[in-house]
Amino acid sequence: MNGAELDLQLPDQPLLIDGEEVATGAWDEVRSPYDGALVGRVARASAGDVERAVRAAGAAFTAGELPLWQRIAVLERAAELVGARSQELARLIAREMGKPLAQARAEVERAEATLRFSVAAARTLGGELVPLDALAAGEGRIGMVMRVPLGVVAAITPFNFPLNLVAHKLGPALAAGNPVVLKPAPQAPLSGFALAAILRDAGLPPGWLHVVAGGADVGARLVADDDVAAVTFTGSTAVGWSIRASAPRKRVCLELGSTAPLIVDETGDWEDAADRAVLASFGQAGQSCVSLQRVLVHERVAGAFVERLLARTRALVVGDPLADETEVGPLIDAGQRDRVKRWIDAAVAAGATRACGGAVNPDGTLQPTVLVDPPADADVWRAEVFGPVLCVRSVASFADAIAQANDADYGLQAGVYTRDLGRALRAARQLEFGGVLVNDVPTTRFEHQPYGGGKDSGNTREGPAATLRELTEERFVALSTT
Ligand code: SIN
Repeated sequence: MNGAELDLQLPDQPLLIDGEEVATGAWDEVRSPYDGALVGRVARASAGDVERAVRAAGAAFTAGELPLWQRIAVLERAAELVGARSQELARLIAREMGKPLAQARAEVERAEATLRFSVAAARTLGGELVPLDALAAGEGRIGMVMRVPLGVVAAITPFNFPLNLVAHKLGPALAAGNPVVLKPAPQAPLSGFALAAILRDAGLPPGWLHVVAGGADVGARLVADDDVAAVTFTGSTAVGWSIRASAPRKRVCLELGSTAPLIVDETGDWEDAADRAVLASFGQAGQSCVSLQRVLVHERVAGAFVERLLARTRALVVGDPLADETEVGPLIDAGQRDRVKRWIDAAVAAGATRACGGAVNPDGTLQPTVLVDPPADADVWRAEVFGPVLCVRSVASFADAIAQANDADYGLQAGVYTRDLGRALRAARQLEFGGVLVNDVPTTRFEHQPYGGGKDSGNTREGPAATLRELTEERFVALSTT
């Protein structure tokens, strides 16, 4: 297929419930955040549709396990199909979410890897033996702990990685033996539907995956349904913690936001740090939970670091996500763009220096913006920006950098550039983050690492092996051999 064919408006996308395509009669449009072009229309789920999907998933679960070897075969085949359809999927991501094509291609590769790691994790997820005869009462008995699936999983996914974050939910949940009801992000639901279709084509039986689309009401109904055993959510902090509060008896896995910091020590390779900071902060217009937001650079190298950072930032190609050379595309909608712009202006009014960017381009994209020395209570420093804004502060010592990095509501990932091994180890111990990346930006994520954080950033670790553990529970079994 050539690019023009791939860019045609897609056929209307019905829901997927129990193997049936359900056109509900209510349609939501999906439009390109760059130029407003209609990408497709998606059926909106009613309360009844959500209920039917959950019942069908529950029935599949109670009807008996889909054996592990079959789950593995389906996921392997799905990974192959994702690879085979990578061009089409990348263009779909770029169109519905505005991610530059090169970054969308990388996302498709990542999704394929996520499915393959889900298979690897499922193959090796074992149990353990408990030596019951360590007590006299246990003599003649064998104890074991097996991991069993939880039941119906509700997966609620965000717009920013509309394929790979869906793969991070579906791959491990299905590998573990849980049927899933997926609610993809309303802004960019089509990639999630595409992955569901791939899983169906790969041989997943109808009861095991259902896709219901819509807004917050659809998510709320899913979460509230008594037959949903677990909710896995990636998205905004406020919504995530409200889900947790509304479902105290369910397993709720939250992967939320952050204000990811990078410490650049005076011994570190600050040139590499400046080069990598640019895409870590401005790639996909800063719309990643681990987008680099705060740099804490030692005062001895701060001047040179900022100069290099600005040169690299000014050279970025900003614009049409479907152009091969574009590095920064639009924000997901004009409302988000205007909010980010307001935060920039407020920080400048409060004393930050706007070193570059800060304006809206004629095509509606927001210029990548570097702010130096924003006040610590400015939104651009304290709150998650989720936009193309990078804040830089200079620090007098490594200890100060660690303290300022930790002075945050979020704790997802942090990066540290240093050539001092002692400091690297100190950072690993003292930084209050789920991931510490040494001589790397905090935005780096490997599909098979345990990914997640504490504080407001969430309560889970995601990544196939970690998710498989989260979406299963231990069952103790004692066998009496007498
Ligand atoms: C996220 O934004 O939640 C995930 C970031 C990533 O997978 O790179």
